[in-house]
Amino acid sequence: MAQGGKRQAKSHYVCRSCGASFPKWAGQCSECHAWNALEENLVPPAAASGGRFAGYAGAISAQVLALAAVEIEHEARSPTDSAELDRVLGGGLVEGSVVLIGGDPGIGKSTLLIQTLARLSVSLRTLYVSGEESPRQISLRAKRLELPADDLRLLPETCVERIIAAAEREHPQVMVVDSIQTMYTELLQSAPGSVSQVREATAQLVHFAKRSGTAVFLVGHVTKEGSLAGPRVLEHMVDCVLYFEGEAGSQFRLIRTIKNRFGAVNELGVFAMTDKGLKEVSNPSAIFLSRQAEAVPGSVILVTREGTRPLLVEVQALVDESPLANPRRVTLGLEQNRLSMLLAVLHRHGGIGMFDQDVYVNVVGGVRITETASDLAVLMAALSSLRDRPLDHGLVVFGEVGLTGEIRPVPNGQERLREAAKHGFKRAIVPRGNRPKQEMEGLEVIAVENLAEVLEI
Ligand code: TYD
Ligand code: MG
Repeated sequence: MAQGGKRQAKSHYVCRSCGASFPKWAGQCSECHAWNALEENLVPPAAASGGRFAGYAGAISAQVLALAAVEIEHEARSPTDSAELDRVLGGGLVEGSVVLIGGDPGIGKSTLLIQTLARLSVSLRTLYVSGEESPRQISLRAKRLELPADDLRLLPETCVERIIAAAEREHPQVMVVDSIQTMYTELLQSAPGSVSQVREATAQLVHFAKRSGTAVFLVGHVTKEGSLAGPRVLEHMVDCVLYFEGEAGSQFRLIRTIKNRFGAVNELGVFAMTDKGLKEVSNPSAIFLSRQAEAVPGSVILVTREGTRPLLVEVQALVDESPLANPRRVTLGLEQNRLSMLLAVLHRHGGIGMFDQDVYVNVVGGVRITETASDLAVLMAALSSLRDRPLDHGLVVFGEVGLTGEIRPVPNGQERLREAAKHGFKRAIVPRGNRPKQEMEGLEVIAVENLAEVLEI
């Protein structure tokens, strides 16, 4: 090394999928258990001993402020022309914010952003930086989607320094970088897509966004066992993290807020992929409910609440005699351990055992349920399938099931019941704590306190 070998470049190993860092190489990441995901990351001696952190030396000039003395400008939010995208962003795009949009390849990230940017370009200065598609491809797509893209500015480039230089000339108000894994910085020698490149490129873009007030969207591919660093290694650096959910085969695309410095998390935006791009779905309950005209065993309607909106979804269960010594417990859209726990509660407090049965539970439409209010629906769907008896067609349920067999109340019961009534449901089984104070018109509410009462019904 230049300094007589005393100050060597420090190296550590960083996991490509979760970003955890280790002093030694290993075949498997002990944080996220991904195999072969650790890559060497060199910290240049200059950086380790000052460099970017040279500010420490000038710390005398750092200023401490009283909170009250901080001048609050009005947080400038611009609507994005899509109510569903605004919802997940927490009410619109914030000036100078950095939004990371992650998702599997081909799920619709570029489509969503080109649509949004083209519509915004009518009133704002926009810049679409693409490291994946040629300007011709982008233009063709915009034409096919019939977007008002005349004023949309394009930049095919993958070097962050050049992108920022171009952006400084163009002064865009909104900028898209598609995708962060194709970008590289001249400061580092590692290949584009490696953890260090992706992080450094993001750091520079974040810095640019804060300095210039440009709102920046970063596209990040979620990779399976891949050679690219996943977007998770960037989550802590950006203001807002959105992930695409949903099955590749399904027409619907859900966008969930994972992190938001300017709004609520877990907010869900619902879109449908059509031949004219992504169309927003403003009444998602209606689509997740498209089911058979007749009541069938194993199907229950749950009122869940994702973010700030109640949502009606169908929970299906199939209980079937198992040929295996260890019967299967399979869940799609729900947590598997939760199912095992619920079946144990059912056995212990309800006397109904399913230890010789395979149990499959699915949430229709590719929605992932993250709250415990689904417990009661899962139990009732499984029971209905086991006994081969359909539940009432106009019935909705929600409620958490405790380990002692009690049915616990969940937040926002009123709002859930109102959503059910709005969609024409006639009966609701809910925890006692969620019983409304007044009668609800057209909706019979049955309040239950424990598992025994549920079994009676
Ligand atoms: P894309 O936005 O390119 O995915 P990503 O950027 O996340 O990798 O989406 C591509 C997929 O979307 C592709 O499989 C085709 C489909 N699609 C449509 O069905 N309709 C459309 O109008 C467009 C543009 C794409
Ligand atoms: Mg793309």
